[in-house]
Amino acid sequence: MARFVMMCVALSVALIGSANAQTDSVKRGDYLVNTILTCGNCHTPRGPGGVFDMSKELSGGPQTWDEPPFTVKGTNITQDKETGIGSWSDADIKKLMRTGLRPNGTPVAMIMPSSFYQIMTENDLNAVVAYLRTIKPVANKVVDPIYKM
Ligand code: HEC
Repeated sequence: MARFVMMCVALSVALIGSANAQTDSVKRGDYLVNTILTCGNCHTPRGPGGVFDMSKELSGGPQTWDEPPFTVKGTNITQDKETGIGSWSDADIKKLMRTGLRPNGTPVAMIMPSSFYQIMTENDLNAVVAYLRTIKPVANKVVDPIYKM
């Protein structure tokens, strides 16, 4: 019996430990996404007065980049399965962050700063993904990108 109790204690300590690691990772991701990585600048819509509309955080950016090689907008990167990246795997998101390649292998316009993000550590990438998973799904279909080259 004593052994069983000890095992339960050990197991719950391990579980609490991993739950904490998870929240720490989300916190780190929150910090990275909302400060130095500036994802919201391009992926969060703005409301009146140009203020970020955090009720629709990361559901599609306000501006369109109309350049000779492409016309693109910041995409919906909320957890919505239809219009966001809710159906992407963790590996899909990390690949896009590092290489700019979508799951089907097509490259996104280089406005998405993957060339900066490719130096991120595995831990920080995981933290960003953990945080993105906490983002409320917002259904918002962003216009499809146009690639002209
Ligand atoms: C300077 C603007 C900018 C910043 C900063 C930025 N992005 Fe992007 N991102 C874009 C644009 C524009 C696209 C769409 C490009 C295209 O359609 O070809 C994009 C595409 C994506 C995609 C692909 C989505 C899809 O549906 O294909 C993901 C995922 C993504 N960004 C995640 C992030 C994350 C996470 C961050 C922060 C770590 C971030 N982006 C920061 C501009 C930006």
